[in-house]
Amino acid sequence: MRIAFLMIVSFLTISCSNKYKDTVNTAQEYPIIPKPLAMEISTGKFLVDAKTKISGEESLEKEGTFLAELLGAVSGETIQFSSEESNGDILLKLDETIENEEGYELLVTYNKIVISGKTPKGIFYGIQTLRQLINSDLEDLTIPAVTIKDNPRFVYRGMHLDVARHFFPVEFIKKYIDLIAMHKMNTFHWHLTEDQGWRIEIKKYPKLTEIGAWRNGTIIGHHPGTGNTETKYGGFYTQEEVKEVVKYATENHVTVIPEIELPGHGSAAIAAYPFLSCFPNEPTKVTKDMGSKAGKEIQANGTPKIVQETWGVFDDVFCGGNEETFHFLENVLAEVMPLFPSEYIHIGGDECPKGNWKKCPDCQKRIKDNNLKDEHELQSYFIQRIEKFVNANGKKIIGWDEILEGGLAPNATVMSWRGTEGGIVAAKQKHDVIMTPNHSLYFDHYQHKDKDNEPMAIGGLTTVEDVYNYEPMPTELRAEEQKYVLGTQANVWTEYIPTTTQVEYMILPRMTALSEIAWSQPASKDWEDFSERLKHFSEVYEEMGLNYAKHTFERKQ
Ligand code: ACM
Ligand code: ZN
Repeated sequence: MRIAFLMIVSFLTISCSNKYKDTVNTAQEYPIIPKPLAMEISTGKFLVDAKTKISGEESLEKEGTFLAELLGAVSGETIQFSSEESNGDILLKLDETIENEEGYELLVTYNKIVISGKTPKGIFYGIQTLRQLINSDLEDLTIPAVTIKDNPRFVYRGMHLDVARHFFPVEFIKKYIDLIAMHKMNTFHWHLTEDQGWRIEIKKYPKLTEIGAWRNGTIIGHHPGTGNTETKYGGFYTQEEVKEVVKYATENHVTVIPEIELPGHGSAAIAAYPFLSCFPNEPTKVTKDMGSKAGKEIQANGTPKIVQETWGVFDDVFCGGNEETFHFLENVLAEVMPLFPSEYIHIGGDECPKGNWKKCPDCQKRIKDNNLKDEHELQSYFIQRIEKFVNANGKKIIGWDEILEGGLAPNATVMSWRGTEGGIVAAKQKHDVIMTPNHSLYFDHYQHKDKDNEPMAIGGLTTVEDVYNYEPMPTELRAEEQKYVLGTQANVWTEYIPTTTQVEYMILPRMTALSEIAWSQPASKDWEDFSERLKHFSEVYEEMGLNYAKHTFERKQ
């Protein structure tokens, strides 16, 4: 309807652009999330119509085209970006005087819009704000006048996605990146390898995806399950697809950090290359005998290692005593690193049981030869060796907070997930940290206390309000230690999230709350005010055809 309307509007009189010159705007017309640092509302509205022109210098072609397509899509008009002219009604402008690399200024008056940023990224965020101000309630498409000066609180604002427990196609990964960008978040943590599937093509080790990307079945119901689907499940991304995703993310100012899990959560790699295990001939154990018939048959026919079919933490981890394990992992990382421009590679490090290492002669020899105290120090040895390799290739590692065990690798960044303690300890040791505590930022948790009416989740309860109320900067840190907290991220583990629509359901609206705590200053935090703006945001979800937890807007949490 809006489109038809605009076609008529474009034939109206010349005075059209002055039509909204003196319109008085209300505060409700600025429901921006995340809340900007400073905003002054004023009188008048900018009218978007067929004559609207966008201009800016050539280096802003991508951002300009993005805005043109955005306005074109909502108005139904053909709106263009030109780098040849500088007299557009909407002007994109690089401005060295803006200090923050991601900061922007947005000026909207009845006849002009100027978006300035120190970098194209800042301008991109200005466009994202402008997008939220587009108003179609009147007969025209308008943007209320405003002056905004904005920049983020944290440099790291991330969303994680586990594509191993369940696999999601490239098209969905791009949609996920769109959501990250729309929320002015800047990092996609792509959890690519797990016990239940290896999801990235490695040319040197083809069995990782020929064998490791496929499981013979999946447990039914909550762990340990009531049965097995008896259906082969899997998939993987080719290196060409990975490049396509990284290119798309880069265009949307999102950095992709790949995670290659080690030394635990390696059952899929072990199924493909059993030498990685301390005990290559010991059969993979599926908890409570819930494995598929096909998997059992394969094991009975002399192939003891299979890709895991249930969830959890498994004893069969990479051997820390065998040199071949390190050669393998270095070769894998040598292929992974060039695919990702990110300065970070996530190497996992979580949930690595030490039982096999205690029994393994190679692991025990490694402990002895290197004067290590115990298996926890072997974990530290493992991570430090991998860190050296990653650093030698010009990158840095991030690991889950278990990498604190036995001593941190010298340059590692810690992702604090078992609460906030790991982050606090690491920051006190002058290591960078990213706060992803499970109590507040695990979006695989239930989001409503009425769990019976929710899709099955892993457990827990993290409402949108819990997310909003989380404060990423631990009060335990002194002022000089706070600089090590780079930012915050939510994690989306997908044991109980089999479809893309369910991923959307689990992240929305919680991700929207996260975006505000990652970007906005704590002084502006106000749950009631946020809730009002969030109501408007639900219209954005609707327009984008996204599945979201509607009841979090309706039922008492
Ligand atoms: C984790 O949730 N195991 C990092
Ligand atoms: Zn071993």
